[in-house]
Amino acid sequence: MSEGAKVLLDLDTGIDDALALAYVLGSPEAELVGVVCSYGNVTVETAARNTHVLLDLLGHPDIPVYLGADRPLCASSPFEPPAGVVRIHGADGLGNVGSLDRPYNTSAREADFARLAEVLYGSQLYYVPTGPLTNLALALRTTSRPMAGLPRVTFMGGALTVPGNVTPCSEANIHNDPEAADVVLRSGLKTRMVGLDVTHQVVLTREETAAWRELGTPAARLFADMTDHYIGIYEKNNPHMGGCALHDPLAVAAALDPTLVTRLPANLQVDLEGSARGRTICDPDRLRDAEKDCEVALTVDAPRFLEEFRARVRRALGARA
Ligand code: BDR
Ligand code: CA
Repeated sequence: MSEGAKVLLDLDTGIDDALALAYVLGSPEAELVGVVCSYGNVTVETAARNTHVLLDLLGHPDIPVYLGADRPLCASSPFEPPAGVVRIHGADGLGNVGSLDRPYNTSAREADFARLAEVLYGSQLYYVPTGPLTNLALALRTTSRPMAGLPRVTFMGGALTVPGNVTPCSEANIHNDPEAADVVLRSGLKTRMVGLDVTHQVVLTREETAAWRELGTPAARLFADMTDHYIGIYEKNNPHMGGCALHDPLAVAAALDPTLVTRLPANLQVDLEGSARGRTICDPDRLRDAEKDCEVALTVDAPRFLEEFRARVRRALGARA
């Protein structure tokens, strides 16, 4: 990535999305130009509120926050997170550790998807969705122009070589809106998929959250408390992992530095019917096409990523006393 590259995040702001936000803010080569919010871990309104809280806390209250879609493409009512997700991220989406006890800005602007599509055209903007792909699908629907010039959209979601985390076939972000993910993956847009194949290989332990507490800043304390909540859920549900998976931070890292992962070129689709609904899989109709639209991350240099993660997140957390 070139110095000063502009990054637009698309978050369903729960705990690992918060870690992804801190990663970008602690990355010297990246300039965060805005955050589009999505439903997913929380409702879209809660995602926007959480994003404001975190931006304030991390010393960047002026970065604009946009309210994206409040439901999947085919849904008739706004999305409410299911009980299992509320347990993982907490009812407030940030681990219920008191993040809302502080004043925060509430002025999220309604996202304009035609404008988002305009902004993405021909821009050198790194767009990184770490929630459902609904906002991007809505932006693509406003236009038939190819988004030539846009760097690959790196998204967290999917699973190609490993099982899903919601159903045996489906990962949470894709599961939340399979139709949107299918629109994106078959649109001709160049994408990079950072799914469970790699995100389950990058694990954060309580050793790091203890080090954050030593930094002594309000941001570091809140991030330590909220991430300990997330690690606690993994200790119950996935004790063999020894910590929590860093799903969304890895997507951001692979957008900024693709050499952290090895990538398989592929043309993907999403299964929309039956028990395989939500599965990311190669599109049989485009199997022999020479040009592949997606790069699927299959292996990750976990030690190098974790080193980058520690340095960048500590920088973001320590930036304000
Ligand atoms: C993904 O689902 C969400 O709960 C996380 O924030 C992450 O984006 C992992 O499957
Ligand atoms: Ca997420």
